[in-house]
Amino acid sequence: MKIRKAVFPVAGLGTRFLPATKAMPKEMLTVVDRPLIQHVVDEALEAGIEHLVFVTGRNKGVIEDHFDRPYELEDTLEERAKMKELAILERDQPQPGTASFTRQQAPLGLGHAVWCARDIVGNEPFAVLLPDVLVKNKPSGLKQMIDAANAAGADKANIIAVEEVPMDQVHMYGVVGVGKSNGDLFELNGMVEKPKREVAPSNLTITGRYILQPEIFNILEKQERGTGGEIQLTDAMLALAKTQKFYGFKFKGKSYDCGSKSGFLAANIAYAMDREDLREGLREEMRKYVK
Ligand code: G1P
Repeated sequence: MKIRKAVFPVAGLGTRFLPATKAMPKEMLTVVDRPLIQHVVDEALEAGIEHLVFVTGRNKGVIEDHFDRPYELEDTLEERAKMKELAILERDQPQPGTASFTRQQAPLGLGHAVWCARDIVGNEPFAVLLPDVLVKNKPSGLKQMIDAANAAGADKANIIAVEEVPMDQVHMYGVVGVGKSNGDLFELNGMVEKPKREVAPSNLTITGRYILQPEIFNILEKQERGTGGEIQLTDAMLALAKTQKFYGFKFKGKSYDCGSKSGFLAANIAYAMDREDLREGLREEMRKYVK
């Protein structure tokens, strides 16, 4: 399975993080010293993605700037011989022509956002990564999914990352029903977006990483509304599952739902504790709060 393009839906309003997200996109909130979106792009690049497709919206211009070359800053750093800082910028700089930006002009749902990328993606399988979710792992979450698909001979399939959550949280996520296993993958026999606990098919929720076949665009094209009056990716996947294979995959390692404040704070601690320059100081500081 060769996946060249990844779609990052970054048009969300970030209402759960107000007032932080009043003037700044939620995707630019930092986990340690990297914006959320940069962490998710890192994951995609590690999985061999060659082209980044951002579906942005109003007030999201700074995301585009983040992936552009900061000419004035580089010039000043060079003048001052700040080589370390220059190297930091250089390391994350996408090559010319490898990032595309398109706008979702109205907040009509995740399915609509993905559909906005149809022309840039074209007729090939692609990945979708939601920047709310950080998967802290080696190999990266998306790489694990591609490896598992290859090992199971599922290269023409659609793959969705899932994870277990307590039953009282299922109403906040897409939820899948579980069928037969195939290596590290398992067949899906149902998907439902934000179900009530009583009708949820399991406690396995969709975690914000998808590998999809391009036929999904024909279904999204119909623009049918689902849960919350939005065009749901989950509904389109359910329709596509009538004619194509869909598998679930559980990551090895830990994911952080940075769309919630507690998940975001937990991610900051976890990523900081991985850093030699921060670990000891942070541990000292946390001791003051933990008995
Ligand atoms: C979206 C998806 C949902 C998934 C969730 C993961 O929902 O629609 O299926 O479980 O992301 O974060 P949202 O959080 O955008 O409402």
